[in-house]
Formats: sequence, structure tokens, C-alpha cells
Amino acid sequence: AIPKVFITRRLPEKCIKPLQQVAEVKMWSEEYKPVPREVLLQEVQTSHGLLTMLSDRVDETLLAQAPQLKCVANLAVGYDNIDLEACRLHHVIPCNTPDVLTETTADLVFALLMASGRRLIEANDYLKQGKWQEWGPFLMAGADIHHKTIGIVGMGRIGTAVARRAQGFAMNVIYHNRRRNVEAESELGARFCGFESLLETADFVVNLIPYTETTKGLFNQNAFTKMKKTALFINAGRGATVDEDALYQALLEGEIAGAGLDVFSQEPIPKEHPLLTLEQVVALPHIGSASVETRKQMISLCCKNLMRTLAGEKPITPIETSR
Ligand code: GLV
Ligand code: GLV
Repeated sequence: AIPKVFITRRLPEKCIKPLQQVAEVKMWSEEYKPVPREVLLQEVQTSHGLLTMLSDRVDETLLAQAPQLKCVANLAVGYDNIDLEACRLHHVIPCNTPDVLTETTADLVFALLMASGRRLIEANDYLKQGKWQEWGPFLMAGADIHHKTIGIVGMGRIGTAVARRAQGFAMNVIYHNRRRNVEAESELGARFCGFESLLETADFVVNLIPYTETTKGLFNQNAFTKMKKTALFINAGRGATVDEDALYQALLEGEIAGAGLDVFSQEPIPKEHPLLTLEQVVALPHIGSASVETRKQMISLCCKNLMRTLAGEKPITPIETSR
């Protein structure tokens, strides 16, 4: 019998054509609204494959209702929405999309870093709101980027790609990671640092770590107090690795100078959130990997992973938990 695949968001038909040739594909009809939990729980009952978004929770409850399910292909490199242990118990292979999004995400991280340092969004708003009356010597004056110290927390593929960009700006690169990244040290001159010493030294603290039980709230009041008063905090990892109340207080009290945020504990972040009231905060709607080219490649990789597992072959990018 032809296998069934459920896709939890509306994706361009063109991108999923290859999958449609080997499976009966059903897709949630909305592009900007997540599939309701009850619809997903209904659909998994007959599905052999799932193509999920980072906003879909794949847990024991869901997997217990999916007797035929072989593969969950998540349209993201992060996988904190997936219970890996439950997948193992139910013989479901979880897959993510590493590599294809590395350079695109590093581009966004650097753009966010520069936008925060040079106050681009604030300056743009100032001008468009008609506030620009006169040129001034310190009008929208921000922080230099070149020759500054960037401290990268989470030196995996994306961190290394960010370090490569930083090198082009003659930045001093320090990093913290669970394990040493020898490649980044020898090729990019990145220097390994303890977490606290990185916080004390970096002009730009860039967070790229995934969310786990261990990294939850890692950036807390204590961490922000250690940073320089002139430091800018860039987050493109996961929102819940940050204590957002502590971040807000640190910004309000001038413990740090600003923040560039692409991820939040609650997504979408409510419009009334205190962090969004601060002009020294640049906030983006989780668009790290959002270039048209890369999103197409991520979808294509998800389809290939599903096609392979449904054919009884090894997927290209099963989630590697050893990293
Ligand atoms: C985005 O945050 C991803 O994990 O791909
Ligand atoms: C993500 O893929 C990372 O390794 O940084």
C-alpha cells in the first residue's frame, strides 16, 4: 500500500512533488497558522511519515496514537519540540535539517549583530517617523564592530560560520562550547573560554545553543551582571535558554547596552512584552534560516528523509544526539 505523509503546514506544491510521487500526501491548509493539536493527533493515526514545524510538539501522547509512523522530519535544525526518547521507544526515526541552513543562519546572526551595534532599526524608525531634523555628531551613534571581541556560546556549525564572518571584520573571536572546536581554533584563530570569562570579555555575546534541560535559563541575572555595560547580547539559539525577565532588567538598568533577538521563550512573543518596549532591543520573528533558497532546501531535505525512511533506507540527516 502507498504510505501516507502528513505535512503540518502549507508548503509550495513544487517543493513536495518528489514526495507526492511515492506517498499520499496530506497537508494542513494554512501557511501562517499551526495545525490544531486535535487535527494533528487525528492525522497521525494513519500516517507513516510526518513533516513537522518547530511549533509542533512531537511527544509520547502523539506517538502513542501513531502505530504506523516511521519518520518525523522536522523543518529545523533544532529539535527541542521532539521527545527523542519517546521516538526511540516507538521506533520512529526523527530527522532535522542541519548543514543546509548553516550559512544562511550565520548571515542573519551577523546582520542582527550589526543592526544592534549600529542601531540600524532605531535609526530607520527615527527617520521614517519624521524625527530627523538635523545632522548631529552623535546622532544614532552606536558601537564599532571591527576589532571588537565576539564571544560565541555554542560553537557548532553555525557558530563556526559566524566566526568566519567575524574574521572578515578583524574581530577577536572567543567561544564557549561543551567540547573544543579544533577546526575553529586552528583555521579561524578562535580561542576557547570558560562561560563566565567569555561573558566578562566579549563586546558581542552571541548565543547559539539549543534548548535542553541543562541550558534552560543559562543566561540569567548572574550572567548579564558579568557582561560589560557596553555589551550587546545576540540570541539566535532558543529563547528559553534566556531568563527574559533578567534580560529585561539588565537592559533597563544598563547592565548591558542592547540586545538582538531572533528567538523568544514564547513564540510568537506577545506585542505587549516588556522587551519589545525597549529601543535598544532589535527583535525578529525567528527568521534565522529564512532565505527563500534555504527554506526550499530544508523542505527538500525533509522530503528526502521521509522518502528514504518510507522505502526502508537510512535517512540523510537523522537527528544526531551525540553532538
Ligand atoms: C531554527 O531555529 C532551527 O532550529 O532551524
Ligand atoms: C547547528 O547546526 C549548529 O551546529 O550550530
